[in-house]
Amino acid sequence: MSLAQWLFTVVIGPTWPNTKPLLEVISIRHVTGNTAGLKPSQKRLLERTYQRRVAPDRIISPELARHLAGISREIGRQVGVLVNRRGQIEDVFVGDAHRIYLPDIGRTRAGQSNLRGLRHIHTVFGKDGLHRDDFADLTKLRLDLVVALETRDDGQPGKLTTAHINPNAHKAKRTIDHVTSEDYRSIYEVEVDFKELVEEIERELGRQTKARKADGGQTRAVLVGVYDRKQTAQWRLEEMQELATTAGVHIEDVIIQIRPKPDPKLVVGRGKLEEVVLECLDLDIELIIFDHNLNPTQARAVAAFSDLKVIDRTQLILDIFAQHAQSRDGKLQVELAQLKYNLPRLTDLDAGLSRLTGGIGGRGPGETKLEINRRRARDRITKLENEIGALSKQRHLRRRKRQNSGAPIVSVVGYTNAGKSTLLNVLTSSEVLVADQLFATLDPTSRRLRFPMEREAIITDTVGFIRDLPPDLIRAFRATLEELEGADVLLHVVDISDPMRDEKIEAVRALLEELHLAEIPEILIYNKCDLVDSITKRGLCQKDKAVGTSAITREGLADLIGTISQKLWRTNVLDTEENWLDYSQGKLPAEA
Ligand code: GTP
Repeated sequence: MSLAQWLFTVVIGPTWPNTKPLLEVISIRHVTGNTAGLKPSQKRLLERTYQRRVAPDRIISPELARHLAGISREIGRQVGVLVNRRGQIEDVFVGDAHRIYLPDIGRTRAGQSNLRGLRHIHTVFGKDGLHRDDFADLTKLRLDLVVALETRDDGQPGKLTTAHINPNAHKAKRTIDHVTSEDYRSIYEVEVDFKELVEEIERELGRQTKARKADGGQTRAVLVGVYDRKQTAQWRLEEMQELATTAGVHIEDVIIQIRPKPDPKLVVGRGKLEEVVLECLDLDIELIIFDHNLNPTQARAVAAFSDLKVIDRTQLILDIFAQHAQSRDGKLQVELAQLKYNLPRLTDLDAGLSRLTGGIGGRGPGETKLEINRRRARDRITKLENEIGALSKQRHLRRRKRQNSGAPIVSVVGYTNAGKSTLLNVLTSSEVLVADQLFATLDPTSRRLRFPMEREAIITDTVGFIRDLPPDLIRAFRATLEELEGADVLLHVVDISDPMRDEKIEAVRALLEELHLAEIPEILIYNKCDLVDSITKRGLCQKDKAVGTSAITREGLADLIGTISQKLWRTNVLDTEENWLDYSQGKLPAEA
């Protein structure tokens, strides 16, 4: 072929049998999806769909409808298009006879008041209308509209179903109505002004986003739990609600699934997770909290599936610890625990990374950002471990000194919020932070506890215990927990009014076992006795051999002092009559 002939062939037109004109190649965009086995003529017909236009105020033009129905009937497969607001076709794709999958266009973030600017129109056969996936795509991808166009046996367009996001869905409490759909008997019946419709939806979404911002801007989340029984669900969820409140997160909705075991990959079933994601998008929420400790594979899989920020129970607790740590020791421990826990869970998408690793950015030669982040996180872990180690030595010395002083050590342990700090305060008349929050105490606090007959002990408060803390995390709180090692007696404080009392006692004892502290003599204290009637109090205290107290009314404190001294010195310091009188009237050692 001469050069002139070649140029003519390639640029102008198909004079040479097997050569495609270059201009056509350049201007044609590809048809994706299930195109295998289609004839070249059918592919060309599909490619020509890109040349169609729809007027900006119309959902679909009759010409496009006829074209899609015709080609769809010919190939016996659903055909879909994505149309932008200017009415241009951005994508053409093919499904099978019953399903069609959108090409990957990436998810937009929840909370956006703008829609995607794209509508998805696809053909269907017979009674197949909009599929469940269409509704999911609509919400997840924030499409302007989804449209199912019936293809009749004669290849003509038939009925039409359209659906769009219902911007008022979260004014109604539940989510069933997050989509509004309409049926039309034919394309000629559709009189909706498309431009006006999407503008109205966006206006309403915008109004709601503004209103939510004005609401105080508190972090909002959907809580997800997987339980084997409904009964377990209740107290666990209550505890998670409390944890969330303490962390400053507002739980907007709770979604639970009862199943024998969490799903190894996605924790809940795929369908359930889909529901959670739709709920988040619907409620304009970007955070999912799991009442479950996700392993790194689950954490990554759920984050990738949902494209939302996902945290688990441990991360929530760590967040609370981070907010409450006061001393240098406490802060170092929390940072170390966070890094260790989060390191294997890091993904490229992890938005929390910069917060965890102190705003790391940039890209080194040959390393991905994630690898750099991982490396720096590991460096930081080593540094923190060294610092904590050094502090631990100092603490060890201090403890030795305390032990050498001869004063016995009494440590207060207990489930979070049982009233440990309050009790310590009234016993020692000191001012340890007391708050109706979980984990108000993080740093170890030591006070002198003066007993009559010239005796004294050192009493230390510790971090509140909580069930299911991963052992690594427990170890990270060495500073606080090391205090327990030298204890002569443990005061195990329990909220007597808590219906989950027994489970919590078990959780605390299990943790003590894990820390090899189960050998230390324990005094069980049923605190908050002012919240139950006297019969209940007496019954429970007798049954469980506990001392009943109220840190608020000071009831039972004398008994407690007596029991402690009995354990420490094998003698009850209140045995003299005058001491007993003082204590029984609620006077404390410092005041007596
Ligand atoms: P963490 O720091 O989370 O481990 O909590 P904690 O066990 O130290 O509990 P804290 O002393 O902070 O008390 C928790 C809440 O319980 C506070 O609101 C206290 O006022 C309240 N509280 C403590 N003791 C009593 C009591 O005897 N009776 C009543 N009614 N409330 C109490």
